[in-house]
Amino acid sequence: MFPITRLRRLRAHPRLRDLVRETVLRPDDLILPLFVRCGENQRVPIGSMPGHFQLSVDHLAEEVREIDSLGIPAIILFGIPEEKDAEGRIASSDDGIVQQAVRAIREAAPDLLVITDLCFCEFTDHGHCGVVNDRTGRTDVDNDATLENLVTQAVSHAQAGAQMIAPSGMMDGMIAALRHGLDAAGFSHLPLMSYAAKYSSAFYGPFREAAESAPRFGDRRTYQMDPANAREALREVALDVAEGADVLMVKPALSYLDVITRVKTAHPEIPLAAYNVSGEFAMVKAAAANGWIDEQRIALEILTSIRRAGADMILTYHAKDISRWLNE
Ligand code: PBG
Repeated sequence: MFPITRLRRLRAHPRLRDLVRETVLRPDDLILPLFVRCGENQRVPIGSMPGHFQLSVDHLAEEVREIDSLGIPAIILFGIPEEKDAEGRIASSDDGIVQQAVRAIREAAPDLLVITDLCFCEFTDHGHCGVVNDRTGRTDVDNDATLENLVTQAVSHAQAGAQMIAPSGMMDGMIAALRHGLDAAGFSHLPLMSYAAKYSSAFYGPFREAAESAPRFGDRRTYQMDPANAREALREVALDVAEGADVLMVKPALSYLDVITRVKTAHPEIPLAAYNVSGEFAMVKAAAANGWIDEQRIALEILTSIRRAGADMILTYHAKDISRWLNE
């Protein structure tokens, strides 16, 4: 008989499989995105994201108490405002939708960590992530004008009680501008989670319905990354690390597991988040609704693979389900 290396020895007993498991997924690793809208007594279902709703502020208390009781440590907030303008000014108002929501959540669930997404696409009438003009000879988002507005919006989130701010607009110099602006306003203690490598992705489709944030013209390819590039992601994250990002993020997750691994390898000392985005969630839900896949096993496998690739934490619309399944 020729020699056989027997790896199956470690797979034979379930307890042994538990002992040699390399990657664990815990509710503690998860961040749940929440959509808050204006109005009263609103609980508007998001068609492409079953189980998710646009909630008005008065519905948040109940929702966040449930999230907290499931052992999910954090939520990330997205606001859908009543009115939009060219610069998204309402995003920086003290009684803006996100600011109201932050205060309501902090009061209802004081132990839950409140992260705010920082961007302008939900607040501008054109749906782009900042100030649009023709300064460069093309109609495009003006980087430096947008930085100033981002700082104003971030300070207003901080004043409302946000406990971490997650800028998602992919502007150059965004982390340096925000760190400087927050420090100057007395918020040097507030961490920044940078959407450092965010791709221009079709996987955001359902989110744009949920957040009413699709661009009215053009696309986001002049600021979000080309899905074909991974080395460039390393430049993006290196800059954000140098500028003072506390947590890095790769987004989307599933089609970018290689990017997650590369970023973790390049910066093992910096906590890394991955965003399991709306399109990834919708595909699982749609296939499960047809009876084509086992939702629970698929979702656990996807999230485990994102952790295995190198993500320390995952933003996911499956957070509540996962916590229930893991706690069973
Ligand atoms: C921008 C933002 C987007 C998402 C999170 N923040 C959309 C975009 O860049 O167009 C997408 C999240 C998802 O698809 O789940 N504020």
